[in-house]
Order: sequence, then C-alpha cells, then structure tokens
Amino acid sequence: MPSFFQPPVTPLPNGVNLHGQTAIVTGASSGIGVEIARQLLEVKASTVILAVRNLTKGEAVRRSLLAAKPEAVIKVMKLDTEDYKSVQNFTKTFRAEHSELHLLMLNAGIGTLKREMTPTGHEKNVQVNYLSNVLLMLELLPLLNSTADKTGARARVTWTGSRFHGATALANKAPLQSGETVLGHFDSEESFVAFARYADSKLLCVLFLYEMRKHLASDKVIVNTFCPGMVNSGMSDVLPIYLRLPMNAIKALRARSPEKAAWIALNAAIVAGPESHGEFLGDKAIVEPVAYIKSADGQKVQKMLWNETIDEMSRLTTIPAWISKV
Ligand SMILES: NC(=O)c1ccc[n+]([C@@H]2O[C@H](COP(=O)([O-])OP(=O)(O)OC[C@H]3O[C@@H](n4cnc5c(N)ncnc54)[C@H](OP(=O)(O)O)[C@@H]3O)[C@@H](O)[C@H]2O)c1
Repeated sequence: MPSFFQPPVTPLPNGVNLHGQTAIVTGASSGIGVEIARQLLEVKASTVILAVRNLTKGEAVRRSLLAAKPEAVIKVMKLDTEDYKSVQNFTKTFRAEHSELHLLMLNAGIGTLKREMTPTGHEKNVQVNYLSNVLLMLELLPLLNSTADKTGARARVTWTGSRFHGATALANKAPLQSGETVLGHFDSEESFVAFARYADSKLLCVLFLYEMRKHLASDKVIVNTFCPGMVNSGMSDVLPIYLRLPMNAIKALRARSPEKAAWIALNAAIVAGPESHGEFLGDKAIVEPVAYIKSADGQKVQKMLWNETIDEMSRLTTIPAWISKV
C-alpha cells in the first residue's frame, strides 16, 4: 500500500549553470511557478520571462526576485492561456524581442469545479491546461530548434502535469460515446464531471506527448512532463469550504513546499536527458502509462486527440512538417 507521506526529494545537483540561457515560466505569479523562476535565477539563467495573466502580480514577483538577485534580467509578459489570442500575442512579442529560447516551462494551470467556457469555445480547464500549451509549444518550437542549432545543446520544454490524470472520467464516469470527438466531448455539458475535469485536462497533455514522441525526435528539443506530488500552493483555494478544510488538514501533513516542487520541475527540465522525451515523470522517475492510456479505448482516444489537435492548431499556427495525422 502506498505511504500517506510523500518521499523526500533532493535539490538540483551542484554544478548546474544556465549562464547565457533564456527561460520562459508560465504561471510565474504564484506557487510552483515563482519557485521555478527563483531557482532558475539561482543556477544563473541569464534571462527569465515571467509569463503571467495578472501583470500586477507578476511585477510584484519580479521585484521580490530582483531583491535577492539585483543583477538578474527578469521580464514580466502578459499571457492569459484562456484565450488563443493572448498566446499568439505573447509568442509574437517574445519572438520579436528574443533571438534565443533555451527553456519553456509550461506551468500555468487550474483545477476549477464549475463548468465555464473560454473565448475559444472550449471548457476552461481543457483550454488552460491543454490546448493553449500545445499552441505555445508549436509557436515557440522553431525558436527552440534554432537555439539548439546555434548552441549545439538541446533546448527543453517541460509541462507541469499531475498524477491525477489517471483519474480521468473517460475511464468510467463519462466514457467517449460513439460519434463524439474528444474535444467535443470535453466541451459538452453532459460529459462534464466536475471532480474529474482537472484529471481529464492533465490526461490530454500526457496523451499528446505520448503521441508526439512518435513523430518528433529528441535530437534538438526534449519535451517532457512531470508531477510534483501534492504541493502546498493556492490551487485548492477553489474548493468549496467543506472540502477545503479537510484538504488543508491533509496538505498540512503531506504536501511539499513549492520549493521542493520546483526541485522536481527543474530535474525534468535540466537534469533528465533524452530518455525523458515524451515521458511522464512522477517526481523524478519516468512512470509507466496509467491503465486507461494502455487500454484499447485510451489508445483510440490518444490518436483521435492527436488528429483533432492538429486540426485545431492548423487554424491558429503553422503546422510543422514532422506533424502528420495518424
Ligand atoms: N499544487 C499541487 O498539488 C499540484 C500538483 C500537481 C500539479 N500541479 C500543477 O502545478 C502547476 C502550478 O500550480 P500551483 O500548484 O503552483 O498553483 P497556483 O499557485 O494556483 O499557480 C497556478 C498558476 O497558473 C496561473 N494561471 C491560472 N490560469 C491562468 C491563465 N488563464 N493564464 C495564465 N496563467 C494562469 C496562475 O495565475 P494567477 O496567479 O493569476 O492565478 C498561477 O500563476 C499547475 O499546472 C498545476 O496543475 C499542482
């Protein structure tokens, strides 16, 4: 039986030095994202972009980081992943201002219980946690590739994921119905299972990476995802009070600090090698796909999602040559 308590984790090994490197951290206005940014500066990243939806919060984080590292180059840029337009504005501005990108940390995320739609027409958790991250990555991959060419070292994309993806409603509570598309399923009111939607949205990220690794080699960019375990951040503040109180008690006993979560994040982004490409890491170890993903249904959904995501992205960005439908 797994232990209630989470195992100890270790910081980055000595000797990591990101001097000369530019990193983007999404969701860098609170929780794990702030710590990722702080630790990137600790290992001497030359430029760190705080990609945030709330510029006032982002500026406050920037000031606090600068107080500890006055020589650092830290920029705050607007990014609201509820809306593709914001993603496109962000990547356009970034590419105009920067000729290199070494590290993209796709960390912004939500876990809301109310069904809400975004300006893109998709359910909010799916939009923020999955679809906008795919667009961000596709928009920035050419720059990550050219940076790898220039430096001779692989660039990196790391998504903050969650082990909860195994608890997807697709596995039992709301399976895909015949004739439904995957994205249509998650947009529909009938298939909304409030307590599983966070898991659903994180499942989509893992399915996309598992399919992507069949098409994209790891020679220039390593793309991976990790779960930091239960972390003491504000994420559970969205829960109703009757759940928040017991959750806070559990968190007090077992949750990791954002600092430790960022150790795990930076392990995936810096220490893990090409063997982690297209993989899901639980803490620092590569984990086998969950039962649903290995099932015939899971494999079918993985392929459908890939094809539907290509269609969705082809309306928004240039689809690279390595992407083709399955
Ligand atoms: N906490 C955990 O136990 C846990 C476990 C596994 C995985 N994770 C993942 O860790 C990541 C970070 O979460 P956290 O625990 O640090 O929680 P958090 O403190 O709530 O941080 C979430 C971050 O995402 C940002 N964000 C939310 N919606 C956004 C949007 N539409 N556009 C841009 N940014 C947006 C938030 O911005 P605001 O500051 O403006 O709200 C905040 O910076 C998430 O992907 C989460 O799913 C967390």
